[in-house]
Amino acid sequence: MSVRNTEQFDAWNGREGAAWAAGRSTGHEDGERAELGDRLLDAARIGSRDRVLDVGCGTGATTLGAARRAHAGLAVGADLSAPMLERARRAAAGAGVSNVAFEQADAQTHPFPEHGFDVVVSQYGVMFFADPVAAFANLGRALRPGGRLAFVCPQPPENCPWYVVPIAALLGIEPEPRAVVAAYPGPAPAMFALSDPGLIARVLAAAGFTRVAVDPLDVPHRFGGTPAEAADAFLASGPTRYLVERDDDLTWAQARARLVPALEPYAGPGGVVMPGAPWLVTAERPAAGEG
Ligand SMILES: C[S@@+](CC[C@H](N)C(=O)[O-])C[C@H]1O[C@@H](n2cnc3c(N)ncnc32)[C@H](O)[C@@H]1O
Repeated sequence: MSVRNTEQFDAWNGREGAAWAAGRSTGHEDGERAELGDRLLDAARIGSRDRVLDVGCGTGATTLGAARRAHAGLAVGADLSAPMLERARRAAAGAGVSNVAFEQADAQTHPFPEHGFDVVVSQYGVMFFADPVAAFANLGRALRPGGRLAFVCPQPPENCPWYVVPIAALLGIEPEPRAVVAAYPGPAPAMFALSDPGLIARVLAAAGFTRVAVDPLDVPHRFGGTPAEAADAFLASGPTRYLVERDDDLTWAQARARLVPALEPYAGPGGVVMPGAPWLVTAERPAAGEG
């Protein structure tokens, strides 16, 4: 496999992927991720005979959803992370879904079959490309003319307290969104690389896509019944856990003690709930003779 996004490969094929594969890293609850996946697959208008590519498929839940909808077609999940793909393959076998395949690939450069897919989808898997235009152009080549692209990615950090609040608490800084993103020491390009809708439109146009639409989704994220449970959920999830793992002077108990009061303002009768605000992006590869 040829890898262009080496920093992301090291993270996802290493510690981050291992945590996700062990089922410890999604933070908010699985039911919400399933709802988000359904909204994404609805937007992709997957037909029963479609060939679907799921980019950054992770442990494969969205890929399996796509395979079920494309029951007379197929779904291929592509991801950098060997441990997450291994879990995805086990999930497919366990669910008895056979029209599905998983491939370890850097989606930015992987030679997917030209015109090999009717639909490309991604749930939070397309923000990490070092060269987004090259990556989306590569995905465009994999689509047949007239094929559809649909993905979910985060809105700007101002709309994502689930990222800003716990990280600010652990870094000991004010929860000022841009400052928190700038202070985060994780691998670049980071979570919010594609959060500006104008940038999304420009990247997709430069990559050859047409009919680009960027719409907000409102899927509140519940992180547990109490601030203590929510603190544990955050300590299991990627960006927050990474801060503790890399800081020899910060124990898990100290981290928990910083998180609990920061999460208290979000606790209510329904548990600890924060706004979840992804973009739902749809676009098309121009049909033959168009554009
Ligand atoms: C936030 S996770 C989302 C996983 C999954 N789609 C989900 O919603 O649970 C991001 C995924 O994108 C993958 N990824 C990041 N950069 C990639 C690239 N260049 N090519 C393929 N996969 C990539 C990571 O390995 C990881 O599995």
